[in-house]
Amino acid sequence: MKKILVIGGGAMGSAFTVPCIDNKISVTLTEPYNKIFIRDLSSKKKFHSSLKIRLPQSVKFEEYSKNLFYQKFDLIVIALSLSGIDFIGKELDKLKIKTPILVLTKGLKYDRKEKKILTISEQLKKNYNIQNISVLKGPCLAKELARKKKTNVIIANTNINVAKKIGKFISTKYYQIEFSKDIIGIEFCSALKNIYSMVIGSGQGLNISSQLFQKSLIEMKYLIKFFNGKEETVLSLAGVGDLYVSALGGRNSKMGNYLGKGYSFKEAKQKFMPKDTVEGEQLLREIAPFVQKKIDKKKIPLMMSLFNTIIKKKRLKI
Ligand SMILES: NC(=O)c1ccc[n+]([C@@H]2O[C@H](COP(=O)([O-])OP(=O)(O)OC[C@H]3O[C@@H](n4cnc5c(N)ncnc54)[C@H](O)[C@@H]3O)[C@@H](O)[C@H]2O)c1
Repeated sequence: MKKILVIGGGAMGSAFTVPCIDNKISVTLTEPYNKIFIRDLSSKKKFHSSLKIRLPQSVKFEEYSKNLFYQKFDLIVIALSLSGIDFIGKELDKLKIKTPILVLTKGLKYDRKEKKILTISEQLKKNYNIQNISVLKGPCLAKELARKKKTNVIIANTNINVAKKIGKFISTKYYQIEFSKDIIGIEFCSALKNIYSMVIGSGQGLNISSQLFQKSLIEMKYLIKFFNGKEETVLSLAGVGDLYVSALGGRNSKMGNYLGKGYSFKEAKQKFMPKDTVEGEQLLREIAPFVQKKIDKKKIPLMMSLFNTIIKKKRLKI
């Protein structure tokens, strides 16, 4: 029997255990940070307050501690938010973990020393000496996966055989996996869609949102090529696939809608979304120093409009 450790008992980490259990994998789930998730997962019923569902009884919840890593796992899955990546990178580095890693987290980081934007896999490799990293991305609402609704995602690794091996043991009839060698393109797409879904959400009608969708794809294509990914990856599940689901619903497009109505980011956040994390806003702030200096602004007018609204605090003009 295969053994998987999932780090992150939030919506995505917990939903990911469902297909794994259906595949008769032994799943250990741990939560290092959030007290509500720890309470949910350690309770008898395993009712997840964010997914609003009971997780399979056979998921083993264990408190986070370094002792966990003394067990032998076939795969370690990282499902923390971007803010947890440095924490887990340090831990895995300290313990010299060599187990294959699968990253579900989406996002990018600006390396201030090197003046470079790093994907999560690059960060883990460069800063924490972690090798053998695959990434899993694509259009996946955790609530749907947890309810076994049909979901298609993509696993990327420069060594496609490693990606396929992982895909083989986690895929089910309702969780289908595609594969890619373009790990950089896949990671950039899955992060940038948070920015462009805000742009699309700002359109105050389907006609204009469709046009923004089309123009967003052109900008994403330019950016993926700029960062050495493959242009065609924009058409993958991690690109246009994830952009579609994020533009139709979710916090980024909701914020975009308020910006499109004329609210400033601060007003909209305080008035309508005080407790929500808007990943697109965080990403834009993260990559702003790089975008300002290194990217031809004429090639990315939509991102620049959002940039002027969020960073320079102007009303959105698209
Ligand atoms: N690859 C996919 O198919 C897929 C699908 C949906 C979401 N995601 C991504 O997965 C990640 C988690 O999403 P979610 O919906 O589970 O979010 P969530 O808010 O439900 O859970 C967040 C998780 O990150 C942890 N965390 C937050 N801040 C932390 C910190 N400072 N240090 C350590 N841990 C911290 C929390 O404790 C929790 O485990 C996000 O990056 C999201 O974009 C991936």
